[in-house]
Amino acid sequence: MYARPFSLYPPLMKFSGRISRVGESATLEVTRRSKELEASGIDVIDLSAGEPDFDSPPEAIEAAVDALRGGMTRYTAAAGIPELRQAIAEDYSDRFGAPWQTNQVVVTVGGKTGLLELALTLLDRGDEAILPSPYWVTFPEQIRLAGAEPVIVESRPEEGFRVQPERIVDAFTEATRLVILNSPCNPTGSVISAEDLRSIVEACAEREIVVLSDETYERFLYDGAEFASVARLAEEFPDTVILCGSFSKTYAMTGWRVGFVIAPQPVVKRVVALQSHATSNPTTFAMVGALAALRRAGPSIPAMTAEYQVRRDLVTARLSAMEGVECLAPAGAFYAFPRVADCYAESAESGPVGSVAFCSHLLDTARVATVPGVAFGADDFLRISFACSRDKLDRGLERMASAVRARSR
Ligand SMILES: Cc1ncc(COP(=O)(O)O)c(C=O)c1O
Repeated sequence: MYARPFSLYPPLMKFSGRISRVGESATLEVTRRSKELEASGIDVIDLSAGEPDFDSPPEAIEAAVDALRGGMTRYTAAAGIPELRQAIAEDYSDRFGAPWQTNQVVVTVGGKTGLLELALTLLDRGDEAILPSPYWVTFPEQIRLAGAEPVIVESRPEEGFRVQPERIVDAFTEATRLVILNSPCNPTGSVISAEDLRSIVEACAEREIVVLSDETYERFLYDGAEFASVARLAEEFPDTVILCGSFSKTYAMTGWRVGFVIAPQPVVKRVVALQSHATSNPTTFAMVGALAALRRAGPSIPAMTAEYQVRRDLVTARLSAMEGVECLAPAGAFYAFPRVADCYAESAESGPVGSVAFCSHLLDTARVATVPGVAFGADDFLRISFACSRDKLDRGLERMASAVRARSR
C-alpha cells in the first residue's frame, strides 16, 4: 500500500506564484477581526465596512421573490438576462447620451468580479496598469493576479486628492495598457472633473491605452459636487473607454452580488467567454431584483445621499476636532480618510508606529474598527466608513477621540 513519505507533517502544498502575491482584502480582514471580537462577547463598533446600512429597495425584494416563486431558478446566458443588459445600456444613454448597445453590457457577480475579468482580459505579464493612489485595496491585487504590474501615481491631500492628468501621462511607458480611475474615490471621496477626465481619456486614446472607469459610487456626491462619467466620452472614444458599475452601493444591494461592465464589443466578447468559464451568469433572481431596482428604485437614492451628507459633515467635524488628526471633507462616496500620522509614537517602544499598528491599537483599546491607510497605499491615513447609523458613528468617534486623547497626553 502507498504510504505518504512524511505522514507526520501536513502535505507540502505548492501554491501558484499568482496567489502567493495576493493577501486577504484589508477591509474584509478588519471586518472579520471585529466580528470575531464581537462573537467573543466584546462590544466593537465597526466603522470599517463599505456596506450601506439602508435596506435593499422593496421593489427589488418583491421582484426577486416573485422571480424565485415563478421558477427563475435556472442558468441564464453567461452575460446576464437581456432585459437587464438592455436597461443598463438605456440608463447610460438617457443620463449621459452614451451610444452603448445591449450587447456591450455584461452583468457580473458584483463590480468586483467585473473588474477582475477586465484585468484578466486586458493585461498580460510585463504589462503595466496605472493606478492613482490612494486606491481601493482590490485594484493592485487584481492587476497582479493578471500577472501585470500596478504603476502607482500619487494624488495628494494638499490637492484635495484630485488625480492630476499630467502625473498619469508622465507615468506612461511602452508597457502601459490600462489606466484605472475611480471617481468618486474609495477611500478619499475625491471626484474627477469633466475636464481632467477628458484630458486623461484623450492622452490615453492617442497611445491606444484603455481607460477603465470604476463608477461604483457615482450617486453619492456632496455640497453640489459634479460627477463626470466616462459614458459621456464613449461616443468620441469608443475603443478605449470602459465603465464598471454596481448595484451594491447605489441601491444598498451589496449581498445580491450584481454589477456590470460596459465595454467595446471585442472586449465584451472576451469578458463573456471568461465569465462563461468562471462564474457563469450572476444569480438569476438577483438580476431580476436589480432590474426592478434600476427601473423603479431611483427615487430612493437622493434620500440616502442626503443622509450620507449629514453623516459626512458629522464625521469630518468630529475627526478634525481630534488633536493630531486632519480630515478633508470628501466630495463623494461614503468614506472619510483622515491623516492620523501625528497620532503615532516616534518609536515602537512608546506606542504604535504606522497605520496598521494604530488601527490595531484602536481596535484593541477603544474597540473601534477602522481600516489602515497602508492598505490603500497611504500609511499616514486611516479609513472610516460613514455607511452606518449616526448613533454608531457618534459612539465610534467618541471612542476614537478618547484613544487619541490618551495617546497625546
Ligand atoms: C471602488 C470600488 N469598486 C468596486 C467595488 C465592488 O463592489 P461590488 O463587488 O459589491 O459590486 C467596491 C466595493 O467596495 C469599491 O469600493
